[in-house]
Amino acid sequence: MLKRMKMANFNYHHHLTCLLVLSAPLIAFAVSTPEDFLQCLSLHFGNASAISKLVYTPINSSYSSVLDITIQNLRFLTPSISKPSFIVTPLNVSHVQAATICSRQYGLQMRIRSGGHDYEGLSYLSEVPFVIVDMANLRSVTVDAENKTTWVESGSTVGELYYRIAEKSGTLGFPASICPTVGVGGHFSGGGYGMMLRKCGLAADNVIDVQLVNAQGRLLDRESMGEDLFWAIRGGGGGSLGVVVSWKVKLVPVQSTVTVFSPLRTLEQNATKLVHQWQLVANKLPDDLFMRVILQSHNSGPNGTRTMEAFFNTLYLGGVDALLKVMKSGFPELNVVRQDCTEMSWIESVLYFAGFPSGTPLEVLLNRSSNTKYFFKNKSDYVKEPIPESGLEGMWERFFDEDEGVPIMIWNPYGGKMAEISESALPFPHRTGVLYKIQYITAWTNGGNEVAPKHVSWIRSFYSYMTPYVSKSPREAYINYRDLDIGTNNVKGDTDYKQASAWGKKYFKDNFDRLVRVKTAVDPDNFFRHEQSIPPLSSQQKRKNGWV
Ligand SMILES: Cc1cc2nc3c(=O)[nH]c(=O)nc-3n(C[C@H](O)[C@H](O)[C@H](O)COP(=O)(O)OP(=O)(O)OC[C@H]3O[C@@H](n4cnc5c(N)ncnc54)[C@H](O)[C@@H]3O)c2cc1C
Ligand SMILES: *[C@@H]1O[C@H](CO)[C@@H](O)[C@H](O)[C@H]1NC(C)=O
Ligand SMILES: *[C@@H]1O[C@H](CO)[C@@H](O)[C@H](O)[C@H]1NC(C)=O
Ligand SMILES: *[C@@H]1O[C@H](CO)[C@@H](O)[C@H](O)[C@H]1NC(C)=O
Ligand SMILES: *[C@@H]1O[C@H](CO)[C@@H](O)[C@H](O)[C@H]1NC(C)=O
Ligand SMILES: *[C@@H]1O[C@H](CO)[C@@H](O)[C@H](O)[C@H]1NC(C)=O
Ligand SMILES: *[C@@H]1O[C@H](CO)[C@@H](O)[C@H](O)[C@H]1NC(C)=O
Ligand SMILES: *[C@@H]1O[C@H](CO)[C@@H](O)[C@H](O)[C@H]1NC(C)=O
Ligand SMILES: *[C@@H]1O[C@H](CO)[C@@H](O)[C@H](O)[C@H]1NC(C)=O
Repeated sequence: MLKRMKMANFNYHHHLTCLLVLSAPLIAFAVSTPEDFLQCLSLHFGNASAISKLVYTPINSSYSSVLDITIQNLRFLTPSISKPSFIVTPLNVSHVQAATICSRQYGLQMRIRSGGHDYEGLSYLSEVPFVIVDMANLRSVTVDAENKTTWVESGSTVGELYYRIAEKSGTLGFPASICPTVGVGGHFSGGGYGMMLRKCGLAADNVIDVQLVNAQGRLLDRESMGEDLFWAIRGGGGGSLGVVVSWKVKLVPVQSTVTVFSPLRTLEQNATKLVHQWQLVANKLPDDLFMRVILQSHNSGPNGTRTMEAFFNTLYLGGVDALLKVMKSGFPELNVVRQDCTEMSWIESVLYFAGFPSGTPLEVLLNRSSNTKYFFKNKSDYVKEPIPESGLEGMWERFFDEDEGVPIMIWNPYGGKMAEISESALPFPHRTGVLYKIQYITAWTNGGNEVAPKHVSWIRSFYSYMTPYVSKSPREAYINYRDLDIGTNNVKGDTDYKQASAWGKKYFKDNFDRLVRVKTAVDPDNFFRHEQSIPPLSSQQKRKNGWV
């Protein structure tokens, strides 16, 4: 078996390139072969037979299906893209530790994958020889309804988390992603928001303890890692500081009845004025109300002409009577009536916002591949001043230039709890002063990767049109909407602090410097690295920046 593995897709040339960039303690792997890595694992697993069930190489018949199953962005599901030498699928903490120690020892880069939703595929792609540690088997969810806390393993999806909470209680919930297939591991690492953002903050705001395997392969919790590292992993982005194996979160109370509505207004129904007005009120409405706007363009205008469609996609944490009063005083122009609204339980609202038809069994939340996959490119912006109507009209024109249905914008209001939390409380800095966040999406299936350049170039030009209307110096962006257009590290060599701060300041503003200090302290050799991982400073750089 081992002989055959040696023949497998292991690229020695790249392997040597990799050697040059890694620091001294790792030189030992110069003579390594795939067998060495496997032997190292079996030594550390303490059970050689576990390897045959938990480690996949390209010769395994199920290698491709295990690799492809959680790849969300079809742009990265092509044969020409580099594949991992090994996929390790840990069943427990010891396996995660072994994978870390052995990848390090043999100079393989490690990519950590929980739900595989990274927009740029950083959890499963690399240009140098690499190992994927796929957390999908680590997904227990232990709900303590009495103490209102839960330990959730990183490989769980937020859908699984929501389902297990609802199983125990109808009046507890958790504020995380709207899309249920998103993995807890990457999502919490980058902040994580959903329909309760204005009431309860980010998922990361509600994390109270973790279990993390660090670059030395040691298992740490909040107490043993210290508050700096604990701060950094709640929003500093995945794949930089260690492997988070599980998270302890504080659950939030939810009303037994919530109300949802999603009225649609086209340009002919005054969408421009309504969207403009929404900018003035959405972040000031009571924080029980989260009203996001989804904007698309379709041939649904008069006589089949192109128009914009604005959906006011809304969750109210309370009953319909109270909601109608809030709408009447806060946003009467939208003219929401009782017939637009539906009362339901919080867990049913999770299905509603995920787009499942009414009556779908709750068990769909346990289905890790329930969502439709697209080819896509998404970007994000933060808006601090209302955009004038003329600016909105310019957006609509650009939407009409793209194929019908391909571009989408989602505007998420801030304010409420988000405005109460200080900018430096966690690495996620987009708090006070943000009216709303925009996510730009181009998503398609027709034409596949052949038409990617056209759509990607459309979204880049749209982003450039938006420059005058959005946050400046830095132009802020959401790390969980990963976008390599805003800058990358040099993954094959040493990363320069200046180069990294180009993208780092956009995601983290001044918190970036604190993240760099934490990284320098806990992973000075930069073992956990990818195109947008936090770089450590060399001693020379530390001196240059006056940090020593
Ligand atoms: C369809 C879709 C819907 C989405 N909806 C929302 C939404 O409503 N709200 C929102 O906030 N975001 C949303 N996102 C973005 C999502 O939060 C991020 O893509 C998130 O990083 C995904 O986490 P993951 O575990 O699925 O991804 P992965 O691709 O597995 O990981 C993302 C990053 O985190 C690292 N990582 C993964 N697991 C770990 C771990 N255990 N320890 C350390 N690092 C780790 C990876 O290496 C990678 O760098 C959505 C994304 C998609 C594709
Ligand atoms: C070794 O690992 C295999 C696969 O995980 C498991 O079935 C077996 O029970 C383990 N044996 C021992 C002695 O732990
Ligand atoms: C992890 O599983 C292995 C079997 O593969 C077992 O030998 C080991 O004791 C387990 N470790 C922990 C911490 O449960
Ligand atoms: C991969 O293939 C090898 C060689 O046939 C086999 O021993 C091993 O059990 C396979 N691994 C998995 C996870 O199926
Ligand atoms: C709640 O927490 C207390 C104190 O930590 C603990 O003793 C108790 O067992 C917990 N309750 C449950 C149901 O686990
Ligand atoms: C649009 O606004 C105009 C003037 O403000 C108003 O008269 C008209 O009824 C509105 N149309 C709709 C569909 O609400
Ligand atoms: C739609 O088409 C009909 C029939 O051709 C025409 O009478 C009408 O004016 C058109 N309406 C608009 C808004 O263009
Ligand atoms: C999960 O959802 C997908 C997509 O709808 C479907 O094809 C698949 O059968 C579902 N799996 C299960 C176990 O229900
Ligand atoms: C990013 O784009 C994809 C493709 O449409 C979409 O499925 C996903 O929902 C987008 N992200 C979010 C958080 O909406």
